[in-house]
Amino acid sequence: MEVTSTFAETRGLYGGTVGLLPTLGFFHEGHLRLMGLLRERCDTLVVSLFVNPTQFNDPGDFDAYPRDIERDSELAGGAGVDILFAPSVEEVYGGVSITTVEVTGVTDEMEGRHRPGHFVGVATVVAKLFAGLRPEMAMFGRKDAQQLVVLRAMTSDLRFPIEIVEAPVVREPDGLALSSRNVRLGSTGREKALAISRGLFQASEQVDAGEGRGERLEATVGRSIRSLQVDYVKLASLKTMKPIADLSEPAVLAVAASVDGIRLIDNVMFDWIEGRPRPDRGVFLDELSTLTSLP
Ligand code: PAF
Repeated sequence: MEVTSTFAETRGLYGGTVGLLPTLGFFHEGHLRLMGLLRERCDTLVVSLFVNPTQFNDPGDFDAYPRDIERDSELAGGAGVDILFAPSVEEVYGGVSITTVEVTGVTDEMEGRHRPGHFVGVATVVAKLFAGLRPEMAMFGRKDAQQLVVLRAMTSDLRFPIEIVEAPVVREPDGLALSSRNVRLGSTGREKALAISRGLFQASEQVDAGEGRGERLEATVGRSIRSLQVDYVKLASLKTMKPIADLSEPAVLAVAASVDGIRLIDNVMFDWIEGRPRPDRGVFLDELSTLTSLP
């Protein structure tokens, strides 16, 4: 595996189709599994590692974001990555850098409302990665559901000829969604955080049993996470990312809540299959060894 820091040297190493997994680094098992899934689809697998300062609306959160490039290089090498692209802030934002990318509408609610400026930072950095690295495909996780919808819109609007590949939410066997932030949870924090996935799974069971009212589903999750500091629990359309009253179209039940000051997000998407909503709870680490292709 090569570790690069400029767009030009990275492109110089390509052979065949190029797949990109953009990341903020501090890899966990979920990243490694996604690398494995993308590995099967492309000839050159590039993973970008860049803690993008412009998407952190809270400077404290940016400073506290875990970083360890040596550990990340070892893990990525073991996962079959060809190129780990770890640029400097200067490489990404140097030069004139007075252009930003703002995706409107789908960014109004949820993360967009609670993290002002966040999606401009995300869309801008991903547009720069796309323009600088020019992959044929790029993978984003369903865990960041709103980000996925924002980046699909950006890719299509700006006519990037790049296929967006969706990756499932990856969970610990007990349901906790994997996140680089989980390392900051102590064991009691981890226990408290489990209330998020538990609430989402209870709501999913209600949907399986025929419940479709947004307020009922949100109330179920709300009860489960009542001891956390909740930013939002929302049933939203996957098309508009606006809250909806009923589960009558593809939707996401999304949560953001803090546990001991550590902000976590999680969701269950409801795909529309054979005329009814099917909860996508993601994949569990103990099942993943048998997962050979994307669900
Ligand atoms: O989801 C993330 O890790 C980041 O938002 C991304 C897509 C790498 C952009 O910095």
